[in-house]
Amino acid sequence: MIDEKPYSQACENNKPYILDVLINEFKDVKKVLEIGSGTGQHAVHFAANLPHITWQTADQLEYHQGIYLWLQEYELSNLLPPIPLSIPNDPWPKQSYDAIFTANTAHIMQKIQVQFMMQKVSEALPTNGVFCQYGPFTIDGEFSSESNAEFHGKLLASGRGGYRDIEELKAWVDNIQLEKIIEMPANNLMLVWRK
Ligand SMILES: C[S@@+](CC[C@H](N)C(=O)[O-])C[C@H]1O[C@@H](n2cnc3c(N)ncnc32)[C@H](O)[C@@H]1O
Repeated sequence: MIDEKPYSQACENNKPYILDVLINEFKDVKKVLEIGSGTGQHAVHFAANLPHITWQTADQLEYHQGIYLWLQEYELSNLLPPIPLSIPNDPWPKQSYDAIFTANTAHIMQKIQVQFMMQKVSEALPTNGVFCQYGPFTIDGEFSSESNAEFHGKLLASGRGGYRDIEELKAWVDNIQLEKIIEMPANNLMLVWRK
C-alpha cells in the first residue's frame, strides 16, 4: 500500500510540451485511451486542460494505486480510473476510443510487446483515429544524442527492450500511417499516427 502520490520530475518537465501537441492533434477527439499511465501525472494534466475529452487511464496493476491517488486529488469528471492493461496478457479494452496516447512506453517494453501494442492500436482505432506516441526512438538506426545511446545501453543491461526504430514501428502496422514526427525537448519525439 502506498499513501503518497508517486511523482516523476520528467513528467512535470515534459507535460506542457506534450499538451501543446495534444491541443492540436486531439482538438476533434472525444475519447482517449492512455496506455501506460505511469504515475498518473500526465492524465490529470491533460484531462484538466482538455475538458472536451474523456481520458481513460490504463496500466499494469502495480501502477493503479498511484494513479488512483492522483485521480482522487484532482476529482476531474472527465478522467476515468485505470483499467488493467499489461500487454499482451490483458484483453484489449472493449470500448472504442477515437484517439490513443502513450508516453515513454516503447523503450521500456520488450520488442514483442511493442509489436503487439502497435498492431492492436492500428486495429482498434476507427477511421481517422489518431495515435500520439511520445518518447525516444531511433531514426534509421541512429540515436539523436550521445545520452540517448547511453540510456539505450542501460535499458538493455537492465533487461528492458530499449529504443525502437521508427522504421520497425512502421513495419508492424497495417492500417495507420505515420503522419508527423514532431521534435520535442530533451531529444524526444512525438509520433503522430493516423488511420
Ligand atoms: C517509463 S514509464 C512511463 C509512464 C508514463 N507514461 C510517463 O511518461 O511518465 C513506462 C510505463 O510503461 C508501462 N509498461 C511497461 N510494460 C508494459 C506492458 N507490457 N504493458 C503495458 N504497459 C507497460 C509501465 O507500466 C509504465 O507505466
